[in-house]
Amino acid sequence: LKNYDERPIPSHVAIIMDGNGRWAKKRHLPRLMGHKAGVNAVENIVRAAKETKIPFLSLYAFSSENWNRPKEEVSGLISLFRLYFRNKARELKENDVRIRFAGRRDLFPQDLVDIMKDAEESTGDCRTMQLILCLNYGGRQEIVDAIKGITRESLSGKDLEINENTVRQFLYLPDVPDPDLIIRTSGELRLSNFWLWQASYSEFYFTDVLWPDFTGEEFQKAIQSYTKRDRRYGSVKT
Ligand code: FPP
Repeated sequence: LKNYDERPIPSHVAIIMDGNGRWAKKRHLPRLMGHKAGVNAVENIVRAAKETKIPFLSLYAFSSENWNRPKEEVSGLISLFRLYFRNKARELKENDVRIRFAGRRDLFPQDLVDIMKDAEESTGDCRTMQLILCLNYGGRQEIVDAIKGITRESLSGKDLEINENTVRQFLYLPDVPDPDLIIRTSGELRLSNFWLWQASYSEFYFTDVLWPDFTGEEFQKAIQSYTKRDRRYGSVKT
C-alpha cells in the first residue's frame, strides 16, 4: 500500500499509550476508569491498524517500572489484562489477528500467565496482523535477558560469534521487524525504556491527545505523517 508520495505504510507501528490517568483526572474519576477507557481505545486502534493493513502493531501496556504504582492500580490493570485477553482472544482469532507478548511473565499471577498462553496458542495460526502486547516489558531488561541467553549458550559450549544479529536472535521476539513508527500520546516526549534496541532508526510521532481519546482518525494522522518522511538510516538521499 502506497500513498500519493509513493512511500509505503509502516510494517510495524509501536504505541506508548499514555495519558489514561490525566484523562480520568479531568473527569474527576479514579485513575482506573482512565485505564478502562484506554481498553476501548486499544480496541479501536487494533481495528484501525488492521484496516490500514499494518502487519505488526505493538502496544506498551505495562512497563517494568509500572510495579511502583499504587497496589490498587497495579491489580486493577492486571484485572483489565485478564478480562481483555480472556474475552477478546476469540474475536481476534476470527479477525485473523495473532496475539503475542513481550516482557517477563514471572511476576504476573499464574492465572494471567495461563490466559496469555491460551491467547497466544489459540491465535498462533493467524496471519493478517500480529498484535504484540508489551507487558512487564523493559528495554534494558530485554537486553540483559539477551546477554544472559548468549552467555548461557556460550557456557554450554556453543561457539557464538557476537554481533548485532546474534544479539537480535536473543531478544524476546527476534522475528518481529523493528518499529518503523513509534507513537506516544499525551504530550510526553520520551521513549521510557520501550523497544530500546529496536528503536534505533524508528520515526517518532508525538501527539497531545490522551490515550483514551486516541481514535482511528488520530491513528491515520500518525500514519500520514510517517508516509511523508524521508528515512535515510544514516545514509544520504539517493
Ligand atoms: C499510561 O497512562 C498507561 C498505562 C501505564 C497503562 C496502559 C493500559 C491500557 C491502555 C489499558 C489496558 C490495555 C490492554 C491491552 C487490555 P498513565 O496512567 O501513565 O497516564 P498519566 O500519565 O496521565 O497518569
